This record gives sequence, C-alpha cells and structure tokens, in this order.
Amino acid sequence: MCGIIGILGAEAVAPRILGGLKRLEYRGYDSAGIATLNGGAIETRRAVGKLAALDESLNAAPLAGLAGIGHTRWATHGAATEANAHPHVAGPVAVVHNGIIENFAPLRDELRAGGAVFASDTDTEVIAQLCAQFLAHGKTPQEAVAATLARLRGAFALAFLFAGHDDVMIGARRGSPLAVGHGVGEMYLGSDALALAPMTGRITYLEEGDMAVLSRAGVTVYDAEGRLANREMRVVNVDQVRVDKGNYRHFMAKEIHEQPSVLGYALAHYQTAGRDAVQVPEGAPDFAKVDRLVMVACGTAYYACHVAKYWFESIARIPVEIDVASEFRYREPPISARDGAIFVSQSGETADTLAALRYVQGKAGQVLALVNVAESTIARESGLALPIKAGVEISVASSKAFTCQLAVFANLAILAGRQRGHVTAEQETSLLAALATAPRLVAEALGQEPEMAAAARDLSRARDVLFLGRGAMYPLALEGALKLKELSYIHAEGYASGELKHGPIALIDEHVPVICFAPFDAVFEKTISNMHEVMARGGRVLLVTDAKGAAEVGEGAWKTIILPEAHPLVAPILYAVPAQLLAYHTAQEKGTDVDQPRNLAKSVTVE
Ligand code: G6P
Repeated sequence: MCGIIGILGAEAVAPRILGGLKRLEYRGYDSAGIATLNGGAIETRRAVGKLAALDESLNAAPLAGLAGIGHTRWATHGAATEANAHPHVAGPVAVVHNGIIENFAPLRDELRAGGAVFASDTDTEVIAQLCAQFLAHGKTPQEAVAATLARLRGAFALAFLFAGHDDVMIGARRGSPLAVGHGVGEMYLGSDALALAPMTGRITYLEEGDMAVLSRAGVTVYDAEGRLANREMRVVNVDQVRVDKGNYRHFMAKEIHEQPSVLGYALAHYQTAGRDAVQVPEGAPDFAKVDRLVMVACGTAYYACHVAKYWFESIARIPVEIDVASEFRYREPPISARDGAIFVSQSGETADTLAALRYVQGKAGQVLALVNVAESTIARESGLALPIKAGVEISVASSKAFTCQLAVFANLAILAGRQRGHVTAEQETSLLAALATAPRLVAEALGQEPEMAAAARDLSRARDVLFLGRGAMYPLALEGALKLKELSYIHAEGYASGELKHGPIALIDEHVPVICFAPFDAVFEKTISNMHEVMARGGRVLLVTDAKGAAEVGEGAWKTIILPEAHPLVAPILYAVPAQLLAYHTAQEKGTDVDQPRNLAKSVTVE
C-alpha cells in the first residue's frame, strides 16, 4: 500500500515531506521519492529501499522548493527500481499514485503510438503522460487532470504538481484514501491524517470520485460529476489519528469502503509485474504434488475457505475438504503426506484454528496459512504465512479481510490450475485480467449503498431472514446471514438455494424476507426457480443480481438490488458488499453497537 503526501508550503517542503513519508512507511518501503518545484521547474530525488536511502540522497543533494509531493512505494507494476520509483514526471507534470490503473496497458499503447516515450514499467507513468498531453493541447492543470481522470479505470489516489504553477496542487481519489490538510498559509495532501499530524489536525477527507484543487489559500473540491462539493473540515485529535474513522461513523463502514483499495494490493501482491501470471510465493507448495487440500478456519474466514473450495475444485481440479477449526481439531481426521493444509485467520490468533494447525504439523505434506496480522502466532507457526494485505481491521465483524482472503485464494487457485496443467498461460492471463476488475466493481457496488440502506430499513423490522445462494454464492448467503446476525441480532440463516425445499421453505410467509444472491451465471435459472417457489408462497424476495438477471426476472421480486456484471471469479468478492452493507445498515436502524456487537470478540483466543 503506497503512501502519498503533498505540501504547498510557506517554507522549504522537502524535509517535511520526508517526515510525512516516515509516518506512511507502514504502507510500503520498496522505494521512495520526492519532487519539488524549484524556481518553477520540477526536480526529483528518488531512491530504492527504505526511506533512509532517500534521506541519504537528500543529504547529498538537498531539494529546495516551497511546493512538493512525495511517495513511499509498495511495488505493484514494475520492480522496485529507481526508474519505477515515484514521483513520475512527464513534461511539466509530476504525479504520485497509490492504487492500480487497470487500463494502463491500452493507454500506454495509445500514448506510445502518439510518440510518448516511457521511462518506467509502472502503471502510474501513463497518468503523467496523459496529463502532459492534455496540457500540451492547451488545457489548464485543473482541466488536464479532469480529462486524465476521465480516461482512467481502477482504484487510486493521486497528487499532481505542475511546473510553472507554484501555487497549485491537485489531488484525486477513487477507491483509495486521500485527505486534505489545512494549515496557516499552507495546504497539504496525505494518504491519511497520520502523515499530516505534525503539520495540522484540520482535515477534510475526500470522498469517492472527488478531485481537490489546492492553493495556499485553501481547497476547492469537485465531486465525481465535476460539481462543486462541500466537504466538511474536521479537527482530528492528533493522538487518535492512528485509529481514525475518517468520515465514517464506524470502523466497519470505513473498512467496507477500503475494499477497492486493499483488494488491489491483495491481488497485485501475488502477481507478476505485468499482471499476466501468478507469482509463485517463496516456499509455496507445488499443488501438482498435492492429492487433496484441507482448509480450516472459523467464522467469516471459514466462508472464505468455502468459496475457495469451489475455485480449487473447478479451476485446479483438486478435491478440497473444508471444516470449521473447532470440529476439525477434535475429530482427529486422517491426514497424509499427499495432503496440503491451508489455515485462514484474520487475527492469526484464533485458538481453534491454531490448535488445528498444530494437529496437522508433521502429518500434511504442505502447510500454509492466510493471515492478516503478520506477527501473529498462526503466521509464525505455519510453514508459510501468506499475507492478505487487508491492513488493520478493527471492527469485530470481519469485512475487508474476507474479500482480501478471497483475492489471495483466487490467485492461488489459478496458480494450482497452472501447476496441475488445467490452466494454460493464455487462460491464466485472461483470468487475472478478470480478477483485476474486482477493485473497480467493488467500488461500483459501494455506490449502491443508498439502495441497500433503503432495503435495510425494511429488514430491520423482520424477526427472521433467509439468505439463499447457489454455487459460490452459497457461502456468500452464509456470510450474509452471519453478518446480519452478529450486527443486528436478527435471526438469519443462509441456505444453498437447492436445499430450500428440504425444510426451510416451511418458514416462508410474508414476515420472513428472503435475500437471494443470484448473478446471471451458469446456475442463475435454477436459483430463480427457487426464488419463484418462495414468491408462490407469499414470501418477499430481495433479489441481488446484475442487469441481465434483473431483466430476466422482471417485476416479481419485492426489491431488486442491481450490481455490476462480473466474471464468475469476481462475483463472490463483489457480492460480499451487499452481504456487508445490508447487515451494517440494518444494525444502524436497530441502533446496535456495530463495531463491537454484544458477546463477540475480534480475536477468539479461547476454544
Ligand atoms: C471472530 C470474529 C469474526 C472472525 C472469526 C475468525 O468470531 O468476530 O469476524 O471471522 O473470529 O477470526 P480469525 O481472526 O481467525 O479470522
């Protein structure tokens, strides 16, 4: 996760940008760089590795200037080299970037065809080149950035600096966080309030799609449609910024909205620089040598395993057994050297998952863990701990950790498919291209929040709710029910759509809302038949589908939420958004404690 910072200052900015980068170093430290305006011209210093290297290069050759931008990099596109370090400069534009530009390859081809020469392998450089091209055609910096943003697909936060414009800095966010800091005769941009804390506690958090035009006198913010936007300035207590909720009422809302950003990193971490093949993690199992996978976890992490079972079986043709850790550990299952065992835990401290891990040690041929907390016990004790890159998750109910677990699993399933000869290089590239749409599609689904909040107003009056799904949507139904239970205390059950007639259909009446997760996929028609069985009995169906699905079903449903169309590999990641937001808003309606629901704990360290 890269960190970005920008200062329009009243005194030299480079030392303070370096200070801000130190506070952002937790977001990545593959390389770092600073650009300032010195006498109206852009000058840069960049260095590979931790900030100490940049510090040294600045000591050797200090950077003057009252306006500047800085970046600490966590490499996605392009190796950790000086040429790939930010800021990237094209003509009179310097840019720093946190996120991923999904369509960088076609843009780069287009710019190259027009004569642009690229100095790096990054996706970021297309932004600088595009913007420079618009400036060359006579646009102002603000117009050039707006025109550039209109060409970009993906999730990102950006800061721009322009040669010859000492009192202008432009920031933009789509999917990745960006905050504006207000000083006295100075203005700032930063990935988070923590980076800006030594300079100011007066913060405006940009919202999705915003573009902010800064001068030393203040900031003007435009929304995604280019309209003037009134964004509140808040005073953030500097001591609290480490656990700041940003513009959100709850950590859970913040964590749900962080998903486009963190998903991009979770995906990129397991792919080659060109994003066309899965990068084999060091020490990773050779899935060709595995006859069976056993996946073990608790709670939401278990449902991630459940989705992964569908993927590994269909993509890599490996039989997968999944189990909750508390059952697995006591039934003493036979495990052989031809088995691979995967343990999934956000916290890395869940007692049952840890005990299950210890049980397979010495029995399974390969043991690995997917964890969020890198220093946790499960991470330390497993042969190989794969990070899920979700960042700190504070809300007790898991959200972004789930989708990041899925992102890592999707990469691993493709890798396994390749190793076992079921996925060709061409298919791998096309599966990864499909996966790369996940951050953008999740951001689009988050745009449906008002519809989900409206549905939640009705759900909050229910005593029981059923969730249905088929195929990889079945675990999403389970996750939706779990989220609703733990956040709103409404009784909810998740069922495989096909199981409905074997019992739960007896519960159906007009008082029991039935939420159907049904993208227009290979099993759509079957799920819709189950939905009709509910409606024929007076049940109220909330259908979550895509435009094709909605067109197919017509009017019959009580409510319909339309998500973007997604590749089957992306759909489980995408449908996590309504699973989370329906529960979140129902809890808001009921006034329950969203971040710390009663009786629960974030990390369950007792069995
Ligand atoms: C608790 C949390 C859940 C989480 C589960 C497993 O129940 O409330 O959100 O999914 O533990 O936790 P882990 O840290 O092992 O993923």
